[in-house]
Amino acid sequence: MFNVAVIGLGMGQGHLKGYSEIPDVAIRAIADIDESRLQTCAEQYRIPDVYTDYHQMLALDDIDLISVCLPNYLHAPVAIAALEAGKHTLVEKPMALNVSEAEAMVKMAKKRKKTLAVSMNYRWALGPDSLYLKHLIATGKLGRVYYVRSVSLRRRTFMRGHKTWFSDKQRSGGGGLIDMGPHMIDLAMWMAGDFSPVSVSGQTGTQIMTDTDIDDFAVGSIRMKNGVMISLESTWASHTRPGGTVTVMGTEGGAILDLNAAKGQRLTLFGDQEGTLFEQTLTSIHLPTPQPASVQEHVVESIRAGRTAENSAERGLAVMRVIDAIYRSGETGREVKITAE
Ligand SMILES: NC(=O)c1ccc[n+]([C@@H]2O[C@H](COP(=O)([O-])OP(=O)(O)OC[C@H]3O[C@@H](n4cnc5c(N)ncnc54)[C@H](O)[C@@H]3O)[C@@H](O)[C@H]2O)c1
Repeated sequence: MFNVAVIGLGMGQGHLKGYSEIPDVAIRAIADIDESRLQTCAEQYRIPDVYTDYHQMLALDDIDLISVCLPNYLHAPVAIAALEAGKHTLVEKPMALNVSEAEAMVKMAKKRKKTLAVSMNYRWALGPDSLYLKHLIATGKLGRVYYVRSVSLRRRTFMRGHKTWFSDKQRSGGGGLIDMGPHMIDLAMWMAGDFSPVSVSGQTGTQIMTDTDIDDFAVGSIRMKNGVMISLESTWASHTRPGGTVTVMGTEGGAILDLNAAKGQRLTLFGDQEGTLFEQTLTSIHLPTPQPASVQEHVVESIRAGRTAENSAERGLAVMRVIDAIYRSGETGREVKITAE
């Protein structure tokens, strides 16, 4: 049996669901300071041990993997503590508040020789569409990919005056960029087939949510080592039509992945057949090889097989470098070079 535990039971409930659907995985324990959440989750998933102090849970010696699903400012310290306690760790996005925290996490994972993965759940949650698009790119069906546009636009994230840790920069690290940016940058770099950003030019701002100190607007141009250009738009508030899309342009074909469409109908392909241009929204996607149903399943499979997870900490760190660089570029008005590998 493979034993898992979850700390933080907001998004952590999604992790419980993911783990509960994997054969031979047992949810050994959960931790949260909110006792009612603890009790509800323990009953729903019949979890034997519950903790209001996660330190006590980290002391258990029969936990293989821990999900850290806490507010952003707790990701680095708690993931580092979990790794130090000898547990493989799956940390929610954003990986950390900034690059230096993320680097410290990678360092601890290496030191303890444990898997550290970042919860880039969209790759699997948007399946089969996202996974099929990745398959088409990887098998050259779109030709050479040269541009990816990744867009997440919200009209509003919360109403004026509503305060949580999300709206407090000290605890969240920022707004729309650090919240949705990780998903959208990860999806873009995954489709681009490259997690080595070279330089970034961007802008962020607080345009509408002026009762907070966090960004509601962010754009960035990201130059990748393999030559692909990525363009990002992420708003937490804007006067436009909301939605999320990933657009891929290749020399032989293109695609739009619509994050808000129904499962199995999110992918539209564009191409040229003997001079006739076509556009087709797929309706019955068949993946040539079975894929994990969730990020949890992928991470558990990777650990069991001794493989590096596709959503590795190193890739999470690359995403954090881009986020930091967009914030910096916005502050300085200059392009930011990314030197670290
Ligand atoms: N991957 C995704 O799609 C996705 C979606 C939503 C949220 N998230 C991420 O998940 C994380 C949590 O977000 P959320 O929406 O669940 O927030 P939330 O505030 O709803 O939940 C956080 C939970 O952590 C608990 N908590 C806080 N401090 C604690 C401590 N010291 N010890 C134990 N428990 C503590 C709180 O009681 C709460 O139950 C964030 O990093 C967020 O970015 C990811």
